[in-house]
Amino acid sequence: MSTHIAAEKGQIAESILLPGDPLRAQFIAENYLEEPVCFNKVRNMFGFTGRYKGERISVMGTGMGMPSHSIYVNELIREYGCRKLIRIGTCGSLRAEIKIRDLILGLSASTDSAVNKIRFQGMDYAPAPSYRLLRAAHDAALAAKAPVHVGKILSSDSFYTEDPDQWKLWARFGVLGVEMETAELYTLAAKYDVEALAILTVSDHLVTHEATPAEERETRFRAMAEIAFQALLAK
Ligand code: HPA
Repeated sequence: MSTHIAAEKGQIAESILLPGDPLRAQFIAENYLEEPVCFNKVRNMFGFTGRYKGERISVMGTGMGMPSHSIYVNELIREYGCRKLIRIGTCGSLRAEIKIRDLILGLSASTDSAVNKIRFQGMDYAPAPSYRLLRAAHDAALAAKAPVHVGKILSSDSFYTEDPDQWKLWARFGVLGVEMETAELYTLAAKYDVEALAILTVSDHLVTHEATPAEERETRFRAMAEIAFQALLAK
């Protein structure tokens, strides 16, 4: 086992889906994976490995925010050999034309976190996804006729910001959506030369203040998971 994951070596697949919520990981395992085996219950951060269309795939929750996400992604790559990691999560839309329920594929991840400032000694790094996974997910989304956007996102350390209008600055510089994990995922993937992508469903809207109705969340989540599976299977 690693410091925060109870799995034995070899129990986690090279391809893994990473929802923030561990109950979403369980939902995917129960609804999509054949013969899922639970490899982690430490802190209730459930993780499972099974087969999807014959391919070995894992799914594990990573919690909210970059510090939690970073712990799990570090261990998944360094201790368990994960090589294709797709975050499936939610974001807030910063733009009127990007609607609740739309999908955003993160083409870059800016951040207000100090993590990369410290890591890069005050210089700026530009966290970006695997182009191959991005293209595969985009193809899958278009084939499914899903409303999909490819563009810049913001990974914020604060859900409740001091200045409620702070997002407008990011919107002016072309950022489409805000979430709390992807800048760290993309940075770690680059460090360890593995592939990563964030697929996000717009769950709330900073311009219009709408939110996804609760009864629709499962349907939207399923659509996103199915696109993520296609991207992992793409050769
Ligand atoms: N802010 C930050 N993270 C989020 C949001 C948001 O509005 N929606 C979903 N994740």
